[in-house]
Amino acid sequence: MLECYEIEGGIPLRGEYRVRGAKNSALPILAATVCRSGIYEIYDCPRIEDVFAMEEILKALGAKTKWERDCIVVDSRGISESAVPRELMSEMRSSVFLMGSLLARCDEATIFRPGGCNIGKRPIDIHISGLEQLGFEVYLEEEKISCKGRSHGGKITLPYPSVGATENLMMAALCGSGDTIIENCAVEPEIEDLQGFLRTCGFQVYGGGTNTIFVKGAKGSVLTTPRQVMYFLLEDRIEAATYMMAVLGTRGRGVFRNIRAEFISDVLNVFERMNANVRTYESNIEVWATDRLKSPGIVVTQPYPGFPTDCQPQLMTLASVSRGLTTIREEVFESRFTHKNDLLNMGADIETCGKNAIIKGVPKLQGREVTALDLRGGAALVLAGLFAEGKTTVKDTFHIRRGYEDFEKGIKSLGGIIEKKG
Ligand code: UD1
Repeated sequence: MLECYEIEGGIPLRGEYRVRGAKNSALPILAATVCRSGIYEIYDCPRIEDVFAMEEILKALGAKTKWERDCIVVDSRGISESAVPRELMSEMRSSVFLMGSLLARCDEATIFRPGGCNIGKRPIDIHISGLEQLGFEVYLEEEKISCKGRSHGGKITLPYPSVGATENLMMAALCGSGDTIIENCAVEPEIEDLQGFLRTCGFQVYGGGTNTIFVKGAKGSVLTTPRQVMYFLLEDRIEAATYMMAVLGTRGRGVFRNIRAEFISDVLNVFERMNANVRTYESNIEVWATDRLKSPGIVVTQPYPGFPTDCQPQLMTLASVSRGLTTIREEVFESRFTHKNDLLNMGADIETCGKNAIIKGVPKLQGREVTALDLRGGAALVLAGLFAEGKTTVKDTFHIRRGYEDFEKGIKSLGGIIEKKG
């Protein structure tokens, strides 16, 4: 039997939780350890399946890795391969970052179209056209993508601020013969985190976190000596928001350590519109609800600093048990309502039409057997189980392990009743 969670709902969550390092920082930064030969200690790295999948790719390329508690050590000095094995590529979308980092290091890269969560078409055309504009030759052969050459630099304007394309192009540009300006790039905090890491590695990258990034072409000159680097990852704003919604939907109270309000201000704003209580101090956020929450009205997912698409499924669950009508418009991915049918099955009242979902809050959900179909949709179903009356079984929780370290332990530490089975 595949792993599942059994949840006994209806118990207010109370307690304290320390937020882990961000999945969406860990993945590009681990890929970036390839850019320059060195030994990298990455602290506060979440032990999640996507990170393990990235670790396997790095090893297949010739790196050595080991874990020391929450620190992953990557020794990238022995990297000798520039092709990512097909079977490892299919495991997650972030393997696409290897395109940029291998090009910086080896002047060539071969990857296959990446796998990952099934939440929309998720093309990589922006990555590829950006690489071509930087001067790389890109060959597409069915699922195989081969790139070679060296960036000549220049100015590129992204047609959409794709997070992954911004990060990939930042890395591909590092060792160019010229300097690069990337305009209309994504401004997610994880991009600034990648920039911080690349600078610690000795590269010159500026503007991360704004919509224009400047990369000084290193021309190979500073890269002759291996580097020894220690780096602490940014906190995971999506993990934090997920746990906060678990607390609020059970009318509980939680203190979250290691999360700065500035990174989730739009989420906190939605909580406040729902009549939740929010208190922030330094890197701590306390949230609590004394009564059933009310609808936040209309919530539209947007690139940062807008409401994150990665929190939308969890919000749909929260809105399902809040008073009034909520409209959610998903503007980032095409099919991100995968958990809707299971919520309906649990008694929620939701209508979807294209990118819009209209949720009429019901007083209670009912425990049922449900199936996680992707990472955040799966987490949203766990939340539904916590809010519901009776027992809920969430099947196929391997999707959840891709992005949450020991999710069931986190919920338990806040007093929730949840068991991992299988
Ligand atoms: C990253 C995050 C993911 C988050 C998403 C949006 C990581 C590891 N993952 O994913 O958790 O949900 O940002 O905040 O950081 N697109 C194209 N062509 C491209 C690239 C993207 O059309 O070449 C489209 C996508 O299909 C999607 C939208 O742009 O509809 C956003 O994608 P993007 O910002 O690239 O997300 P990811 O980097 O995949």
